[in-house]
Amino acid sequence: MAHTATDPTAALAFAQANQDAALEELKAFLRIPSISTLPDHSSDVHRAAEFLAAELLRIGMQHVEVIDTPGHPLVYADHLHAPGTPTVLCYGHFDVQPPDPLEEWLSPPFEPEVRNGNIYARGAVDDKGQLWMHVKALEALLQQDATLPVNVRLIAEGEEEVGGEQIAAFLRAHPERLKADVAVVSDTDMFAPGLPTLCVGLRGMIYTEIEVKGARTDLHSGMYGGAAPNPFVALAQILSGLKDAEGHISIPGLYDSVERPSAAELKAWRSLPFDEAEYLAHEVGSTELTGEAEYTVLERLWSRPTLDVHGVMGGFTGAGAKTVIPAKATAKVSLRLVPGMTPADTFDKLKSYVAAITPKGTTAEVRLIHSGDPVVIGTENPFVAAATQAMKEVFGKDTVFVRGGGSIPIVGDFERNLGIPTLLMGFGLPDDNLHAPNEKFNVANFYAGIESLVRFLTLAGLLSVPHPSEMQTEL
Ligand code: BES
Ligand code: MN
Ligand code: MN
Repeated sequence: MAHTATDPTAALAFAQANQDAALEELKAFLRIPSISTLPDHSSDVHRAAEFLAAELLRIGMQHVEVIDTPGHPLVYADHLHAPGTPTVLCYGHFDVQPPDPLEEWLSPPFEPEVRNGNIYARGAVDDKGQLWMHVKALEALLQQDATLPVNVRLIAEGEEEVGGEQIAAFLRAHPERLKADVAVVSDTDMFAPGLPTLCVGLRGMIYTEIEVKGARTDLHSGMYGGAAPNPFVALAQILSGLKDAEGHISIPGLYDSVERPSAAELKAWRSLPFDEAEYLAHEVGSTELTGEAEYTVLERLWSRPTLDVHGVMGGFTGAGAKTVIPAKATAKVSLRLVPGMTPADTFDKLKSYVAAITPKGTTAEVRLIHSGDPVVIGTENPFVAAATQAMKEVFGKDTVFVRGGGSIPIVGDFERNLGIPTLLMGFGLPDDNLHAPNEKFNVANFYAGIESLVRFLTLAGLLSVPHPSEMQTEL
């Protein structure tokens, strides 16, 4: 198998001829409710892993394996028969976020439906649809003569949405199984429709629970109200103490180590086609934007830490009225981290500050659920040029470089532990409703993503294997 495919024409023709089949297969993948955070769905996460592995085997990938872990499984496959070319590590995740609130969906979250050129389902864009683009690009390249233009490893995980602990452990235990020259991840979005985008930074995060306790047990609010502490009120006071009205996080020292983006990066962000009024009206849909007014919206999203409350639990939430002072109240609170910050230091600062502002008569415990480091990826490597060229061939436009406000925990490990750059080459759109009701993926983008990946892998095959000291391009 010494042949190296340098012409993507046949693969592109195959991909195009099989678009409908690719979409039908994606629908089947999306019907599996692989919600990683809900224990009742762990067998569904496993089913999604098996579904993916079966397809990888069918298209001719090798060493296909569902790797069981103490958490959700991983899926591995490789095809390492293109000597003298780079090795590309494809990554994606097949777990999804919970679909609630269900009543907001126009079609059920696990019954994919195509409307107006979009496929609607939980996981459509995040990330099953984008992972499926990788599978379909590999299939298109392999169908001709069972060769690929580069060496490929593929690793997919089933718990990205809950922190990605197992893939991180696997990478630390078996770095040789993921040995590659570059990682390619399609789990981000394009800055605007039709505008090819590489994301070069992701925020990190700490996800916590703050539990406040008051009395020994629930109390009658008439018999004890006025004398006994109320943990919900205490929790509200703690939460409101975490951020001021101007959007600054009040935790002492939180901003001390925050690194600012370079002047060049800030300048590039200012030239992006961003319309604040449009963003407010069509994406956010509130009356005003909030946050640190001294930073632009893109800076606030990409290079500033933030703190959010995701939910508050406990007490009486049923229909009607119950006069009770609950014994405890819990909130889910996360902070997004930017370069310069670490999860451990941020968690320490949060804990100390919560202890300092906990109202008398109550106690607060802060628990860490999961965490991940922020990452900024360099663009000084020839794979970036291959990716931008590939996308120019598909979209007819030059790539913009952005950061993302979200997190993909393993990307930092690719950089730090494997020592390789990652191309965050995503094809979602800003209004795809990730993690929200009516998540969608633009079907044309799904196809354009497949084509971009076919072209990228072909162009990457023309690159000489990079050595850490000296990366050369033959493009
Ligand atoms: N694909 C997203 C991350 C993302 C989306 C990055 C859009 C940039 C642009 C990913 O699946 C995700 O949602 N990650 C979680 C992280 C996690 C540790 C819970 C997130 O960001 O909330
Ligand atoms: Mn994702
Ligand atoms: Mn997600």
